[in-house]
Amino acid sequence: MDEIAKIIIGDQTYSYPVIEGTEREKAIDIRRLRSDTGYITYDDGFGNTGSCISDITFIDGETGILRYRGIPIEELAEHADFLSVAHLVIYGELPDRDGYYEWIKNIRQRAPLHTGLMKMFESYPPNAHPMAVLSSMLNSMGCYYPQMTSNNREHDLEHFEDAAALLISKVRTIAALTYRSEMGMPFVYPRTDLRYTENFLHMMFSQPYNRYEPTEAVVDALDLFLVLHADHEQNCSTSTVRMVASGGANLFASVSAGVGALWGPLHGGANTAVVRMLESIHERGDDGSRYIEAAKRGEERLMGFGHRVYKNYDPRAKILGNAVRRVLRELDQNDPLLNIAQRLEEAALSDDYFISRKLYPNVDFYSGLLLKAIGIPVEMFTVMFAIGRMPGWIANWKEVAAAEKGRIYRPRQIYNGPVKRTMLKS
Ligand code: SDX
Repeated sequence: MDEIAKIIIGDQTYSYPVIEGTEREKAIDIRRLRSDTGYITYDDGFGNTGSCISDITFIDGETGILRYRGIPIEELAEHADFLSVAHLVIYGELPDRDGYYEWIKNIRQRAPLHTGLMKMFESYPPNAHPMAVLSSMLNSMGCYYPQMTSNNREHDLEHFEDAAALLISKVRTIAALTYRSEMGMPFVYPRTDLRYTENFLHMMFSQPYNRYEPTEAVVDALDLFLVLHADHEQNCSTSTVRMVASGGANLFASVSAGVGALWGPLHGGANTAVVRMLESIHERGDDGSRYIEAAKRGEERLMGFGHRVYKNYDPRAKILGNAVRRVLRELDQNDPLLNIAQRLEEAALSDDYFISRKLYPNVDFYSGLLLKAIGIPVEMFTVMFAIGRMPGWIANWKEVAAAEKGRIYRPRQIYNGPVKRTMLKS
């Protein structure tokens, strides 16, 4: 017999069906609640609210499981490159050999930016924050592709494949451009003979007189970083993309809004905040214990720790922690911040304040150290997160745009302002 949930209000009992996902997650379907009872639910931060049914990513926060289209993140981290994972997240399957070459060909040929966008780029101050530039450039880019940004869903979906390849390709070019501008260096054009991540590093660090040739270890580490960031259920930025998509807006406008949401230090901005935190601890000669005490007093946040969903170790943090140690060994670097991070982690994982609140390292705790080891400047860390998350945003936009009976996202509220009054003089 199907499970039902009963809500008793006064002398009335209301029954609501329980829906179950393929991983046995259960939800009470309350879509009739207000029309039945006149009541709504209240769930500040939506920690108990499912906004959609999705086939893309599954997280079990209690046991630290993360799967893209059913495949465990550990397997993908070990055996797949970022573009294969991007294809899996967007289209539901890893590409076969021919499909892979078609996919990377489409992405490779779309790396350059329209000269009009290059001119627009020159109007930003050189020290403009890369996330501000990225958000506006992605939306403005849509002006050059009116066939993909008609806001007529059927029409926009016809061009979805090219729009997806274009955004995945160009988000990387824009990111590199923001760095070159900040450094006052000329822009380096993308090459058509380099792999996705290698091409990004080329655009970031090559000089007109000599090409930057990263080691395999560096390319693989950055590719792994992007794989681990590809999607993550209905996090703040992905839910923003779906919110914007639900109104019928095109893919470019939706991912541009996603960039804005990701920028916040509690979300994608945390990778930058973690390194800043570690640097400040290092500068004060603190081994981290004073900082931990301050966090327990509520005076500081242990950035890179805690998660709305993971109440266990974020599997991405484990993989990234190993990758940082591997890359530093390969590059023969010794980063004092890594030692501080490891001490913070050990201390926090044995301290009741963190244990009782189930606060574990999340994806951002080690990711910044990995980017730092590769030579990516701190200001670019959140942009790197956006490059990685682009496939997830694209896949979620498509789920909304292609839904049979999609409804616009329009949550309710409880009004708590001044009761009715007049501005008219009596
Ligand atoms: C990402 O959603 C996703 O999937 C996001 C992400 C993705 O891939 O898209 O995984 C990427 O955004 C990871 C999170 C990056 N943010 C940080 O690392 C910032 C530091 N973390 C926190 O701000 C916090 O843990 C959040 C924002 C991540 C989660 O916040 P919640 O779920 O709203 O938890 P909360 O703020 O209600 O905290 C519960 C308790 C509070 O203590 P009490 O009031 O019960 O005494 O835990 C404490 C908080 O003070 N707490 C922390 C803490 N995080 C929570 N105390 C110290 N340091 C922390 N980091």
